[in-house]
Amino acid sequence: MSLSDSSPASPAVPPDATAAPQPDPENAMIALEGVELTLPSAAGPVHILRGLDLSVGRGETVSVVGPSGSGKSSMMMIIAGLERASKGAVTVGGTRFNGLDEDSLARFRRDSVGIVFQDFHLVPTMTALENVAIPLEFAGRADAFERAAECLEAVGLGHRLTHYPGQLSGGEQQRTALARAFAAGPDLLLADEPTGNLDGETGQQIIELLFRLQAEHGTTLVLITHDPQLAGRCARSVKLLDGLIVGDESNGGASL
Ligand SMILES: Nc1ncnc2c1ncn2[C@@H]1O[C@H](COP(=O)(O)OP(=O)(O)O)[C@@H](O)[C@H]1O
Ligand SMILES: [Mg+2]
Repeated sequence: MSLSDSSPASPAVPPDATAAPQPDPENAMIALEGVELTLPSAAGPVHILRGLDLSVGRGETVSVVGPSGSGKSSMMMIIAGLERASKGAVTVGGTRFNGLDEDSLARFRRDSVGIVFQDFHLVPTMTALENVAIPLEFAGRADAFERAAECLEAVGLGHRLTHYPGQLSGGEQQRTALARAFAAGPDLLLADEPTGNLDGETGQQIIELLFRLQAEHGTTLVLITHDPQLAGRCARSVKLLDGLIVGDESNGGASL
């Protein structure tokens, strides 16, 4: 049953007309508060993310755009728990990452987050079926292989179960990666330029598949892309520049 905790907090600053409405942080799928990422380099510390505040609601679809080097992938790695913020608070699906040990973080990621990369990140020595099934098996699912086969069939690869990544086309490899990403029924899907290594038509098919799976599962989606048309398919667009969020707009009629 829902709690009737209706705190009448009103925003200190009225939102402007095109700004995307921010979900209630208590209910957010992703909440970044003052997130900074600073990494050492030979030339001294590099300030990659310089104070990000972002709240993404459950089931929301958000594109992340911005020039190369603006920090998009770094932000995604922090949301995935694959990189630790140097400063600030990261909460995903109500789980606060700060202070969480690596094992708990890995378990959370396994159960709640699907990730798709530009270059597929499949294990080359495993078949398509094994690539999808092994993470499920690690998660303790007795039906890992049956479930993996189902997921591969759902992305049109029922006839490629025993193929190795090297025997699959780029599009087929990304379909396998999508099957793997959705197999455990994640609450959140993170995709980093998932069509970047594919030709236009194959990329389009992958995008149709990604949005179909997203809609079927009601998954929250964060999609990094250089393609404005693709960004426009998400309900909301966040723009990064030089480690800062410089734009955050709803796509319902708002110009990008
Ligand atoms: N491990 C690292 N050490 C130092 N600098 C890094 C590291 N990873 C990324 N960077 C730098 O951080 C900036 C943002 O990178 P990235 O998040 O990959 O941007 P984007 O995905 O928007 O292209 C870039 O200037 C990049 O060179
Ligand atoms: Mg990147």
